[in-house]
Amino acid sequence: MRFLQLLIFTFLIAGCNSGNAPVKKVIIDPNPTSEMAQLMRDMTNELASIREKLINEEELNQNLLDFALIHEQEVTDPSFNKPHIKPMSEAYAYAVDAFNENPTKSNYSAIINNCLSCHQLSCPGPVVRIKKLYLN
Ligand code: HEC
Repeated sequence: MRFLQLLIFTFLIAGCNSGNAPVKKVIIDPNPTSEMAQLMRDMTNELASIREKLINEEELNQNLLDFALIHEQEVTDPSFNKPHIKPMSEAYAYAVDAFNENPTKSNYSAIINNCLSCHQLSCPGPVVRIKKLYLN
């Protein structure tokens, strides 16, 4: 039972391309970075810095976030192009707009919730990293 849990966890952290050994992917990164993967990395970094500011109670400006639409990006593998991507990408963009208009903690958390719901359906690998973006 324990072993099975470990096995499942290993697959989860292996990222979307569970065919590659996770360690190999981190070190050599054999796949060229897709547009979508690059966007995801940029969003992760930018949101991490906003998270710090929110935690430090810094005053945030409006319109901080300017991300390309997820569903218009090229993916690493066509298997990521699932039917739910577009509606979930639109829901995500809506949450980003709301934060841009009103950069509060709760609007920030709504963005992260949207990251998480799409990933739980399509690409569970980064879920651990996404959860680290929550405020507490
Ligand atoms: C509409 C669905 C969707 C939403 C919303 C979404 N993602 Fe992704 N994410 C994907 C897909 C699909 C991939 C795989 C892309 C590829 O490899 O081409 C991915 C890949 C990633 C990766 C791995 C990138 C890499 O280096 O290979 C990270 C990290 C990530 N997302 C974080 C996030 C964060 C943080 C958010 C919210 C700010 C987010 N995602 C919102 C679908 C989504």
